[in-house]
Amino acid sequence: MGINIAIDGPAGAGKSTIAKLVAKEKNFIYVDTGAMYRAIALYLIRNNVALDDSESMVKFASQAEVSIKYVDGQQQVILNGENVNGLIRTEEVSKMASVSSAVPEIRTMLLELQRKLARENDVVMDGRDIGTNILPNAQYKIFLTASAEERANRRYKELVERGEKCDYEKIKADIIERDERDSNRATAPLKQAEDAILVDSSNMTIDEVAKTIIDYCK
Ligand code: DC
Repeated sequence: MGINIAIDGPAGAGKSTIAKLVAKEKNFIYVDTGAMYRAIALYLIRNNVALDDSESMVKFASQAEVSIKYVDGQQQVILNGENVNGLIRTEEVSKMASVSSAVPEIRTMLLELQRKLARENDVVMDGRDIGTNILPNAQYKIFLTASAEERANRRYKELVERGEKCDYEKIKADIIERDERDSNRATAPLKQAEDAILVDSSNMTIDEVAKTIIDYCK
């Protein structure tokens, strides 16, 4: 087994930003498991699967082969041979990924890929159930969170900087809805592992959060 650092937490807590910094510092690979769920969601959208049709989700997801590779140290998600990295960050994909990731068969499809990466490499892996379910024996576990207001704020600023039109209240409502779905599903819900440290980034800078986690992983 490689050295495994598991970072879980809700959407918008800064997991990927922090995980990338920690991975760089430690010279580990960064594994973004949300991107794998997003690739499957993209395949479901392309096949016109409805958000309430879990039977079709299972059927179509079984045709979606997801793998990852690294280009210049950046994770790329491959869906049936196509690099879909640039296509999985839309709101539509976020919504479908949040719904379809609750389907047990879809979680099972990705479990072995994630465990294999952690067996064969030193990894910083982020997601929702890494410390609780995928890598229960990870040497380091972090539950990274922030208030819904602060996470909505960050997302709002990011969209405004990109010149996109957006509404703060709508962003906040979407975040709360996603938290609820991710935390209340029956299979591998989002929750802090008993042996994870809790880091609340609401009033911390990126550098402070990265330093806290890097110090913990020494
Ligand atoms: O981290 P993210 O926003 O890219 O993840 C997209 C969706 O996938 C999110 O709604 C929750 C789900 N997910 C999950 O259920 N388990 C993981 N390990 C990672 C993501």
